[in-house]
Amino acid sequence: MADAGMPQISRGLEGVYVDESSVGKVDGQEGRLYYRGYPIAQLSDNSDFEETAYLLLNGQLPDRQQLESITKQLAESRDLPKGIVDIIKEMNSKADPMDILRTATSALSAYDTEVQDASPEANMRKSIRIISRMSSIVATIGSVAAGREYVAPDKSLGHVENFLYMLNGARPSKESLDIMRVMFIIHAEHSSNASTFGTLVAGSTLADIYSAITAGISVLKGPLHGGADEASVRMMRAIGKPENTESYIESALAGKQKIMGFGHRVYKTYDPRARIIKEYLIRLQDHSSEEVRTLTAIALRAEKLMVEKLGQSHGIWPNVDFFAGPVYIAAGIPVELFTPIFAASRSSGWCAHMLEYWKNNRLFRPLEYYTGKIDLEYVPIDKR
Ligand code: CMC
Repeated sequence: MADAGMPQISRGLEGVYVDESSVGKVDGQEGRLYYRGYPIAQLSDNSDFEETAYLLLNGQLPDRQQLESITKQLAESRDLPKGIVDIIKEMNSKADPMDILRTATSALSAYDTEVQDASPEANMRKSIRIISRMSSIVATIGSVAAGREYVAPDKSLGHVENFLYMLNGARPSKESLDIMRVMFIIHAEHSSNASTFGTLVAGSTLADIYSAITAGISVLKGPLHGGADEASVRMMRAIGKPENTESYIESALAGKQKIMGFGHRVYKTYDPRARIIKEYLIRLQDHSSEEVRTLTAIALRAEKLMVEKLGQSHGIWPNVDFFAGPVYIAAGIPVELFTPIFAASRSSGWCAHMLEYWKNNRLFRPLEYYTGKIDLEYVPIDKR
């Protein structure tokens, strides 16, 4: 029987506004995304990660001097303490790269003398160190997994170029660098998604920024959120050949399985980030490896079928994670690093939101409607 006292519950906080923000705007009806007012396509066409991170953290594009300053700060923070490299080596092959990233990022707090300084200035400095070092951690996870030693960063390189250098022990090709420049920008921010919200919930208790970012990484890991990029390319590999695509998808849908890389809580139309990555993939196609060409053909067939079946009718369209896999593979990135790279880039959005939220902090403490029993009589263990 319906409970007359039951309040209106919004499961998954669907449709609930938890605060105001000027960091990022997602327009789910029109399929638009803005960072501090700039359309994502303008940034992915023209910007680089340092400039985008500055924009997110400070609210406006930097002038030359400001850009030089953040570039220098990011470059100077890159080197990882030996203890962090040791954690990565110890966990290598025993743990998922997202678990290694979460543990190593949390451990960074031990090496930051400002960890307890909650002033806005110190939090900004810590944000820059976190953004810088999470990329170094992800690169080192990849380098150690490939059997290489820690590659010390090169301060003369840009953020993304240095990431690829630390990952592979060699300077990247122009093509890989451009792919990863776009991917780092596209993943940097996405308003109050689950991981940003998780970051804010931890930070709203006035826990330090390392605790907040570690919470964000934990939340990002799952396949309904950041982990969908890996799940989607694993599906494409399981499909194997382009001609198997339709039967695979049809049978997955008939079995009530979700197709990873499709659907979104906010976008009920094409995710603009998916559009950018898809266009990039199509441009790459002619000069990419056979594997990337096959994955691209599978992805395009799967997209066509899904859009016909669930696009207009159910508002289920490709999201950022669907085309990401083949593009990463074209840049030589191993599948296990897709979600950690998402986290390394998203650290800029998480920090920007955290700094904004702390300007007017309020503890998150929602309610649950209790449906259990009450006033039970305690029964001693030998009488149960
Ligand atoms: N494939 C097939 N059916 C789907 C899909 C999908 N990818 N996504 C949603 N549906 C169906 C779902 O089965 C349900 O159907 P019914 O009403 O018949 O039970 C209906 O659509 C509503 O789904 P929901 O999961 O309740 O909706 P939501 O608002 O919670 O969905 C979502 C958001 C992202 C969790 C979901 O679309 C999903 O699980 N997608 C696959 C995972 C994925 O790609 N995640 C990455 C999201 S974008 C990157 C990021 O920001 O993290």
